[in-house]
Amino acid sequence: MHNVIVNTDISKGKINKNIYGHFAEHLGRCIYEGIWVGEDSPIPNTKGIRDDVLAALKNIKVPVLRWPGGCFADEYHWKDGIGPRESRKRMVNTHWGGVVENNHFGTHEFMLLCELLECEPYICGNVGSGTVQEMSEWVEYMTFDGESPMANWRKENGREQPWKLKYFGVGNENWGCGGNMRPEYYADLYRRYQTYVRNYGDNKIYKIAGGANVDDYNWTEVLMKNAGWLMDGLSLHYYTIPGDFWLGKGSALDFEEGEWFVTMKKALHMDELITKHSTIMDKYDPEKRVGMIIDEWGTWFDVEPGTNPGFLYQQNSIRDALVAGVHFNIFHNHADRVQMTNIAQTVNVLQAMILTEGEKMILTPTYHVFDMFKVHQDAEVLAVESAVGSYEMGGETLPQVTVSASKDADGKVHVSLVNMDHAGKADISVDLRGLAAESVQASGMILTADRMNAHNTFEQPDTVAPRAFEGANVEGGRLSVKLPPMSVVTLVIH
Ligand code: AHR
Repeated sequence: MHNVIVNTDISKGKINKNIYGHFAEHLGRCIYEGIWVGEDSPIPNTKGIRDDVLAALKNIKVPVLRWPGGCFADEYHWKDGIGPRESRKRMVNTHWGGVVENNHFGTHEFMLLCELLECEPYICGNVGSGTVQEMSEWVEYMTFDGESPMANWRKENGREQPWKLKYFGVGNENWGCGGNMRPEYYADLYRRYQTYVRNYGDNKIYKIAGGANVDDYNWTEVLMKNAGWLMDGLSLHYYTIPGDFWLGKGSALDFEEGEWFVTMKKALHMDELITKHSTIMDKYDPEKRVGMIIDEWGTWFDVEPGTNPGFLYQQNSIRDALVAGVHFNIFHNHADRVQMTNIAQTVNVLQAMILTEGEKMILTPTYHVFDMFKVHQDAEVLAVESAVGSYEMGGETLPQVTVSASKDADGKVHVSLVNMDHAGKADISVDLRGLAAESVQASGMILTADRMNAHNTFEQPDTVAPRAFEGANVEGGRLSVKLPPMSVVTLVIH
């Protein structure tokens, strides 16, 4: 038996809804085909953006969308992507597959997408191969309301009013594809570039500095020490890769229980990373003014056989759903420092919410977790204590279950639980402190499957889909929850 205490009257602060953020890069079939099909496409679209994908993303309440990269961001020159589409520059996407980038999806199209989704745009600027002037002018183009060369140009291109732009990233992975810099060098560049990321009128930009790769704690130390007071957010990138990044990451569908276990272990590593990077940030920013922005996370497997290795297309199974649930429980419990996260990536790339094939679209198990967990957006995270049993394999031990809870603006309590064990069920006794448990009821949704690689296909799109959860009961003042193996559950206490 696992014991959990949910202190329904002890709030640890707000879960910023931006923790449920997304990332869409000019990579493979994410933007082109996955989101943008063009106005002349037979696929139903709104000004070039496919309607089915739009509707699916609206349903999960995407709060913020990061664009145009990723590694692509540090090769992207925004002026190539404005003006009449037929005369936009055709370039090579050198980083991702060497394919032609026709620049048909540019600033105006991205801002339209965000308007349609009713989400905040998060734009990542080019430090690696772009100039200070180019970055500065992009912000002027988007946000200046008045007479200026960039604002006039925007108007000529059909947009009279400036857009609201809150989130701006000063480069991406500056330790790698964004310039192979040392932290000292990037800290200086950050200081310089961000100076010219101006606030025009009442548009106040939240500036995000390029952060560490996984456990590069020195990067966080150097950035916080040398530029901490000039940033609003500092990013962190960590992917769950069961194998080795260079030697073979592992297959999305063809894996054994040992690889399942390693995947869960590596997903849980996010907790240690946040804790340790936070400790360094606390040293320079004890008030926690600077947000930790985990703007790339998720599973990364070998590409599906027969697909372009530069397109990073992978299938998505119940294992991915559990990785997502594990991450959200971790993010909730670190909501004091983690202000935004962006799963990589929205459509057709890495741990995607949505897969498309021509006019067809399917929702992945990961999508369903975003749907089930959206009740936590902007809710108060509750103090949870858990004494859960263990999940063991090959002499290694993990906690079997992860849990988080929140209370929304209407006072409704939601509890999310993930049973990582691929074979063992979990019986959980939950003490709902602060609620008269005799008078409450619990109901909810479950996502589970009967095999480790269960997934949705274009032929069978609902193999892994949420269904009503029957395993929660309030008895004798306690909530008892029976979780089947490999399951994600979100309960509402009412
Ligand atoms: O998400 C794929 C790539 O992973 C991004 O472009 C890059 O930032 C990271 O290395």
